[in-house]
Amino acid sequence: MWRNTPLSSLLFAIQIAFLLLLLTLGTAATNISDGYFQPNSTGIKLQNGFERVFIQPFGPHGFRVRASIMRDPTGNEPSALVDPPITGPGASAGLAHDLTVPFKGNATLRNGNLVIDLSQGVLSFFRVSPNGSRTLLTSEYTDTKTLPARYYRQDFRAGSFAAEFSFTSEADEQIYGVGQQACCKDNSVNKKGQVVDLINYNSHVPLPVFMSSKGYLQFFNMPGQGRLEFSPLRTRLAVDEATTVDYWITTAEPGDYDALQEQFTAVTGRQPTPPDFILGYQQSKLRYFNETQILNLAQRFHDEQVNVSLIVVDFFAWKFQGDWSFNPEFWPDPVSMAAKVKELTGAEMMVSLWPSVEDLSVNYIPMQEQGLLATTRDGPGVQDSFAGVYTRLVDSTNPAAREFLWKRLNDSYFSKGIHNFWIDQADGGTIGEPFENNGQDTINSLPYSRSFAQYFLGTQEKIGKMYPWLHQQAIEEGFRNLTEASGPTTSCQFMSLTRSTFVGGQKFCSYLWSGDTSSRFDVLAQQITAGVSVAASGISSWTLDIGGFSGLNVDTDEGRELFVRWLSMGVFLPYMRVHGFVLRLF
Ligand SMILES: *[C@@H]1O[C@H](CO)[C@@H](O)[C@H](O)[C@H]1NC(C)=O
Ligand SMILES: *[C@@H]1O[C@H](CO)[C@@H](O)[C@H](O)[C@H]1NC(C)=O
Ligand SMILES: *[C@@H]1O[C@H](CO)[C@@H](O)[C@H](O)[C@H]1NC(C)=O
Ligand SMILES: *[C@@H]1O[C@H](CO)[C@@H](O)[C@H](O)[C@H]1NC(C)=O
Ligand SMILES: *[C@@H]1O[C@H](CO)[C@@H](O)[C@H](O)[C@H]1NC(C)=O
Ligand SMILES: *[C@@H]1O[C@H](CO)[C@@H](O)[C@H](O)[C@H]1NC(C)=O
Ligand SMILES: *[C@@H]1O[C@H](CO)[C@@H](O)[C@H](O)[C@H]1NC(C)=O
Ligand SMILES: *[C@@H]1O[C@H](CO)[C@@H](O)[C@H](O)[C@H]1NC(C)=O
Repeated sequence: MWRNTPLSSLLFAIQIAFLLLLLTLGTAATNISDGYFQPNSTGIKLQNGFERVFIQPFGPHGFRVRASIMRDPTGNEPSALVDPPITGPGASAGLAHDLTVPFKGNATLRNGNLVIDLSQGVLSFFRVSPNGSRTLLTSEYTDTKTLPARYYRQDFRAGSFAAEFSFTSEADEQIYGVGQQACCKDNSVNKKGQVVDLINYNSHVPLPVFMSSKGYLQFFNMPGQGRLEFSPLRTRLAVDEATTVDYWITTAEPGDYDALQEQFTAVTGRQPTPPDFILGYQQSKLRYFNETQILNLAQRFHDEQVNVSLIVVDFFAWKFQGDWSFNPEFWPDPVSMAAKVKELTGAEMMVSLWPSVEDLSVNYIPMQEQGLLATTRDGPGVQDSFAGVYTRLVDSTNPAAREFLWKRLNDSYFSKGIHNFWIDQADGGTIGEPFENNGQDTINSLPYSRSFAQYFLGTQEKIGKMYPWLHQQAIEEGFRNLTEASGPTTSCQFMSLTRSTFVGGQKFCSYLWSGDTSSRFDVLAQQITAGVSVAASGISSWTLDIGGFSGLNVDTDEGRELFVRWLSMGVFLPYMRVHGFVLRLF
């Protein structure tokens, strides 16, 4: 019995939306030289007392704005912009500017169809139409007796600050993007009226970028924690810690979201072509316990003549967290396992890695000695606990830690024929849940405060939202270093699957999935808002656990129908991965 719900038409819509986005992102950028209004300045520096604001043309129809207090930005702040941009002006400009504007000063610049107007210290952005008319997109929010549009608080910090930046919005404006959220009881992809918490955890991958129905895209190029508020008349970014507030804005005709995506990916990177095999069926479950199970599984796919592209080994195939190798007791011969899987099915393999390191891991002491683990402001530097042990995170913001991690992954898996990696739990700050104990049955869901994590690049408050992206980069660099001996390419031989990312994550040989979902119809519907919002944030390389992660009961009619519905959505997503759950973890 098929229920004829609005869900089926929504599912159809999402499939079409994803296909269109994939096609769009794959097309070459238009040559913006033809009839393009080249910027008439390298940039502005507004010197406003202790504050300074740099405004520069960057990328197609875009401006980058950087604001800081007490000192100029260093130019080395963590950034997701690609420089040079793929198209458009502004390459390698540093903090170049040919105009210095004083307190309460005025200036106007144009790049392509975007005009920025600085009037008595207040910024406004306009789209220029072909007939030369200007339409206001947004401006810094001013009013009598309101917080300044660029508001800074220094608290006890001298080298950084908290900031709140406010921009005008209209009550009927629609806002799309802001990454993946397991939220939205209204089942809407329009974020107007919502507050989006900029903090990462399982299924929550907020990305500080959005598209407006008024025909602009705004991207806050900063990995700080905080929130984005889309209130009726004001859009406000609040970040807990920053050294520079850095944002980028671009424009297109209202409704031309494809153009906004093309311009946005010109400055944050484009999706490389995935390998053919990853587009086939991916078999995954929580979990396979040993090599024999994998070989039996491959034999069964072979015997039943079911084509399979990827076979995935989930967590705790290691002995201790942070070993980044198989437990030899259950996985004695990965080389012959991978070879046999290939021979029987043609499938590639993927293995899970967690960023957590426990004291008993072989890597714990060397990583402590070399300073490759994240620490905390207070206490012994523990970020989280799982399954009864305390854990620290590999500090993937440190290039030396990325190299260390990749070396282990290469030795244990890649060089043995297991080429694809599943980056799990690397949301940053903790190993997963927002504020609760995770994974230890007796005290599961007990609340605790998040540790005040500190990394090579700064605090969790300041750079934490980029932790997953930098962790992805360890795998990306590893792949590229091993496979690009003959120079860079725009295609991938292997892929990582990741639970989190940051803006620009689309440029990696990687795909995002929506985390641990519950097997329920309302959650299936909610996956649509999650997936469309991710795609509207530049990332179409997305999928989910077909059937949901936990709670599916295929012994009921409802459970069977849910699975079939979820499967029929999953077939049309860029990646098709079933991930069933059995209660036994160990
Ligand atoms: C873009 O146009 C410029 C100037 O017309 C030309 O030199 C350049 O080769 C073109 N680039 C592409 C990719 O077509
Ligand atoms: C900026 O423009 C305003 C009016 O448009 C004018 O009153 C003001 O003097 C100008 N500021 C400077 C520094 O020229
Ligand atoms: C740049 O061009 C715009 C649009 O033509 C104009 O309003 C503005 O004054 C120009 N700015 C400079 C610095 O030349
Ligand atoms: C110029 O174009 C805009 C946008 O297409 C339109 O709203 C406006 O009416 C036009 N103005 C004139 C004077 O034609
Ligand atoms: C592999 O794991 C399965 C499931 O736990 C178990 O039934 C089987 O005995 C194990 N086989 C070996 C060889 O360890
Ligand atoms: C399985 O893959 C082979 C080789 O690509 C293809 O010829 C065959 O049609 C596929 N079988 C099914 C059932 O899709
Ligand atoms: C990739 O190679 C570069 C250059 O040799 C090196 O600096 C970097 O650490 C390597 N990355 C990884 C993850 O091994
Ligand atoms: C990866 O492993 C292979 C085989 O052991 C080795 O030749 C290569 O140097 C390793 N590369 C890295 C970056 O560890």
